[in-house]
Formats: sequence, structure tokens, C-alpha cells
Amino acid sequence: MRAILALLCVALVPSSGFAETTTNASRAFLHARHAAVASDSQVASAAGVEMLKSGGNAIDAACATTLALGVTNPFASGLGGGGFALVYWAKTGKTVALDFRETAPAALTARQGGDKGIRPQSGLSVGVPGEVRGLSELLRRFGALPFSRCVEPALRLSRGFAVSPWLAQQIRDEIARNPTTGPDLVAKIFSIGRQAASRLRAGDRVARPALTATLERLRRAGPEAFYRGDIAAAMVDAVSAAGGVLALDDMARYAPVEREPLTTNFLGHRVLSMPPPSAGGTIMVEVLGILANRPEEWRRKGSPTSPAYLHELAEALKHGFADRARFLGDPAFARVPLAHLLDASYHRELAQRNQPDRVLAHDAYGTPARRPTAAPRDGGTAHVSVVDEAGNAVALTTTINLEFGARIAADGIVLNDQMDDFTSERPDVFALAGSDANRPAPGKRPVSSMSPTIVLGDRGVEVVAGAAGGPRIVSATLQILLDVLVFGLDARQAMTAPRIHHQWEPDILYYEPGISIETVRALENKGQRPQSRPDIGKANLIVRSRSGLDAAADPRSGGEPAGY
Ligand code: DON
Repeated sequence: MRAILALLCVALVPSSGFAETTTNASRAFLHARHAAVASDSQVASAAGVEMLKSGGNAIDAACATTLALGVTNPFASGLGGGGFALVYWAKTGKTVALDFRETAPAALTARQGGDKGIRPQSGLSVGVPGEVRGLSELLRRFGALPFSRCVEPALRLSRGFAVSPWLAQQIRDEIARNPTTGPDLVAKIFSIGRQAASRLRAGDRVARPALTATLERLRRAGPEAFYRGDIAAAMVDAVSAAGGVLALDDMARYAPVEREPLTTNFLGHRVLSMPPPSAGGTIMVEVLGILANRPEEWRRKGSPTSPAYLHELAEALKHGFADRARFLGDPAFARVPLAHLLDASYHRELAQRNQPDRVLAHDAYGTPARRPTAAPRDGGTAHVSVVDEAGNAVALTTTINLEFGARIAADGIVLNDQMDDFTSERPDVFALAGSDANRPAPGKRPVSSMSPTIVLGDRGVEVVAGAAGGPRIVSATLQILLDVLVFGLDARQAMTAPRIHHQWEPDILYYEPGISIETVRALENKGQRPQSRPDIGKANLIVRSRSGLDAAADPRSGGEPAGY
């Protein structure tokens, strides 16, 4: 029966091309008059709205939603991970980028893991988690509610919640990939037996008692209880038992970094994005800068899926990803030529270099420099978009890297495997190339694709967007922005439109099945190498409309927005 249903689902793939097997697509969109939260889980979005309705603002909502997501979607994010947040504070127009990405433990050096680099989902791949100090810093700076209040919905959920279709799928995939150890990991996360873990299905009620105890401690003693004492010791012990080098000192020393958001003007809109160690913002500014040279042409052609436009977009992405591979690193350790990469005259030069009917030689993308010295999966990331009644906005992306991070759990905390994002002799798990700028070093933060983005216009916040999906985060977020800002699509249309992705290396133009076969052929004739992929990124989006806010979760995942 299940097989027949699965076949039917495939046969009924909607025109946008992806199989909506994980959520009821109609619930993925919402019109709200005053405030909205979009995330990968209905109950997590509701946790944000609960804050808004108890005197909280967008920052409180973003933190409560993020903490709740860590409970309901343990494969994607949580206390054991880290991320980036962009904040727009409406009253003063102030914008802040907070970097709470994991850092390399003091004992992690470039030699560790040898030439092959740090093995993902291993003890060595665990970085110092930044999420708890990141969220508490956001609340200290901008929140209206205390940390203890923002933890409450997560705490409640940890005592019992229903397995979502997406979580059920992630559990099935984990057990299929790791038939011996997978059931043990799932059993540990939910404090159930091995057999029960293997039988978990959507709709089953589960709890996370070990995480309840941790969250209860954080609620009572404050975020510092995560970085010192028993909880920190439990994480350090679990990582060292798995061969890692995380130490108590690393935990105690962790601090988030406030950074200046990147800003660029695109067709009269102000686009705010994340600076290094995110590569996302830099690539986005490059791509927008290239495309800004011919916006009228794209508008006249009228379609975000025309071969001419998709070719130009793919070429622009290749320039951006080539520069990422050559130059991007943690700015505290590497000299990133940011002024050059963000310069409009450089973007004009790249636009002129592009050819409408053919691709360029591999090395003609981006700025030639030292050559980089060096099959994608999805799952370990979550993006949250929030706009409140006062017009404040938060775009926050957080990750434990791969599905279930390092696959190490301690005190209910699933630890990240973020150190895989450093560069070694072989490309990382996302097939991304890099340079010496992104080699591991103690205290260093690996380059990320996470791209929380806020667009400002005459009426304040116009768009809040971001995605999960490794390097595809950048392409998905960009296409959503372009669909709204250039082609005038609404939130639902922008979210469901089929996407493409190109990351320069490998030389493959990935496309979702919604792109027509004629378009694929036309792209092939220009020298692109198209390859179909079921989905490209999983986004969460809010767009200001004439009568309020349109919020959209991605039907490619199990998300659902909430608002009022
Ligand atoms: O920071 C990064 O770029 C990666 N660690 C993100 C990983 C990811 O998005 C996994 N899939 N959803």
C-alpha cells in the first residue's frame, strides 16, 4: 500500500516539479496582517507567535522558534550547533549581523585528519557550539523577554510532541544509512528502546527527557550553564570518547561575534546579507551585482525560467562560487579581498565577460588567483524568518551541518560536525572547493553557505529570506529574492518556482524537475551541463504585501508558518 501511495505521489508531482511528500502544501503559506514567523515546523513557528503575543518582539520570537526547532527537528539544528542572525531594528533603522558559528577547538590543527581532512560525522568534526551564547546575546541586545521565557515552548515540546512526516523521513534515512548504529542514535535522542526507534512513524508521540533536563537547567541557571559545569563536561566526554578534541576551556571561551552586515543596492532595494565567515552574502552581492547590469532585459523576457535568464544566473553563480573557493575564510585568520569582491565595477566587468550563448573556460570565472588547493546531502540546517508588528525583522539560519550532525548526543544535545566545512585536499561533503584561507586552525570558524537575508525598501522590511541545503542555500535564497524583486512573484509563487544551482566546481548545472525539457536543451546548447535534482534548498520566506505579510515555508520540507 505504502509503495502504491509513493508511486501515486510521484505521478502527481505538481507543475513546480517537486514531490510534496512531506507536508500539506496548502499549509505552507499564510497571510498575516501584523506579524509572521516562517520555519521548518508548525509548532516551532507557533512558539514564536506565542512570544509575540506575550509582549515579545521579533527577536524573542526568532529565539523561541529556533530553540523549539532544536527539539522537534534534531536532525537539522539545536543547542549543539551554531549559526548566523541578521536583525533589523525598526525604531532606529539599526542592522546587526551576529555570528554564532562554531569555532575549531584549540587542539584542532590543519594536520588533524591528514590530507583527507576531517571525516564528517566523527568526533574530530565537532566544533565548539555557538547556539546558546548566540541566542542569549540576541536576547540581551534586542529582546523584550528574558531567556528563561523564550526557552519555555522548547521545554514544553521536549516533554512530548508528534513526529512530523519530515522527522519520520529523516529517521528512516538515518537508519538506512547506518543500520547498526542508527537505531541506537535515535533511541538515545528520544530515550526509547532500539526497536521502538526503528518503528517510529509520523504522528507517533515522542519526548526528549534528557534534553528536558538540560533545558530546565538553562531556564533556571541561564545560558552560562551550557558552557561550564556538568553539561559542558558531558559534551566534552562524549566527543573525546569518539576521538575528538573538544575541551572544557574551548566551551568556556566561546563568544559570538558581532559583524557589520553586507549591504548592496539592488534595483532600488537595500539588500542586507551575511559577511564572512559566511560565503553566502558575498556570493549573493556578486550575483546581484552582475544581474543588475541587465534587469530590464530580464523583466522584458518576463520569465524566471527562460533559458537566457537561467544561463546568465548560472554564469553569475559560477563567478561567485569561484571567488568563494579562492578567497573566502574566517576574516580573523585570512585576508579576504572583500572590497574587491563587493565592488560594482568588478561586477560590471564580470557581466561583460559573460557570453549569452556559451559558457566560459573554467578559469575565466571570478578573479584569477592562487588555484584552489584543494554528492550532496540535505538535512542539517534550519532557517527562521520573522517580522513583528513594529516592523522589526530577524533572518536566522542555524545548523549542525549534516543530518544529525556528528551523530553524537550528550545530555540530549546533538553535537554538530561543522569542522567538515573547513578545506582539505579533497572537496568537502558538499563537493565545495576551498583554499588555504579556509584551512582548519585553533579558534577559527569554517566558511559557511548560510545566507540569512533581509531586504529593506520604502516601507521598511520588504523580504526576509534564507534556506537550508549546503551551497544550494545561496542559489535558493537568491532565486527567491530575484523572483520577488525582478519578476514580481508573490511569496507562494517565489517559493514554489523551480530552482537551479551551480557552484562552479563540479561543472554541473543542477535543476529541479519543474524546469522544462526545452529549457534544459537550450541550456545544454549554450554549453551548460544540466543534471536534474529533486530539490534545491529548503527556504523560509516572509514578503510584505499590500495588506500585511505573506509567509511561506518550503513545500520541499515540512515547514509551516504562523502569524496573526
Ligand atoms: O554552514 C554551512 O554551509 C553548512 N554547514 C550547511 C549545511 C547544510 O545546510 C545541510 N543541509 N541542509
